[in-house]
Amino acid sequence: MNEQVMRETVLHADGPEGTARVAAALAPHLHAGDAVLLTGELAAGKTTFVSALVAALGSGAAVSSPTFSLAQFYATPGPRVLHVDTYRLTDLTEFRDLGLDEYLDEVIALVEWGDLVSGEFVDPLRMHLAVTGPDDPTGREITVRGGARWAPVLDALADPAGSPA
Ligand SMILES: Nc1ncnc2c1ncn2[C@@H]1O[C@H](COP(=O)(O)OP(=O)(O)OP(=O)(O)O)[C@@H](O)[C@H]1O
Ligand SMILES: [Mg+2]
Repeated sequence: MNEQVMRETVLHADGPEGTARVAAALAPHLHAGDAVLLTGELAAGKTTFVSALVAALGSGAAVSSPTFSLAQFYATPGPRVLHVDTYRLTDLTEFRDLGLDEYLDEVIALVEWGDLVSGEFVDPLRMHLAVTGPDDPTGREITVRGGARWAPVLDALADPAGSPA
């Protein structure tokens, strides 16, 4: 699927506030039908990112890991956010059985551990979070990757101060 040219940009986040700033920079670019797939080890900061993004989209809700419910909807002044954590899913059938497909056109989907289900989304934005290193435990390297839809967004994230010519 999605055999298209992928672009990539690498950002650095200093502490949870830095990760929240990246989320806030992404928020205005998101529309209904978009999907953001988040990967990275346990405690890399995926839920922290989702929480900041949901706040930046204007929801007052406190975001938690959807441990018991695999999926959670959040109302915002714009499109609803669908937060999914696929960590405990073992195969694609389990994801399809959740019946979320019918909502994907109308929500902004934020999916933790998104690799398993990446084929279910058309040109998702992929965000990989990694701890910068042992001497920087609160630093995160955030690798952002996407196809055509995301090219201008990657440019904006890479140069938040820059304005379009
Ligand atoms: N730069 C950073 N960005 C995000 N979280 C950070 C950062 N620095 C430290 N942290 C801490 O790391 C932890 C990240 O936890 P979080 O639940 O967001 O990770 P996760 O990737 O969702 O984990 P899981 O795989 O269990 O879902 C939090 O305690 C957060 O405060
Ligand atoms: Mg999480």
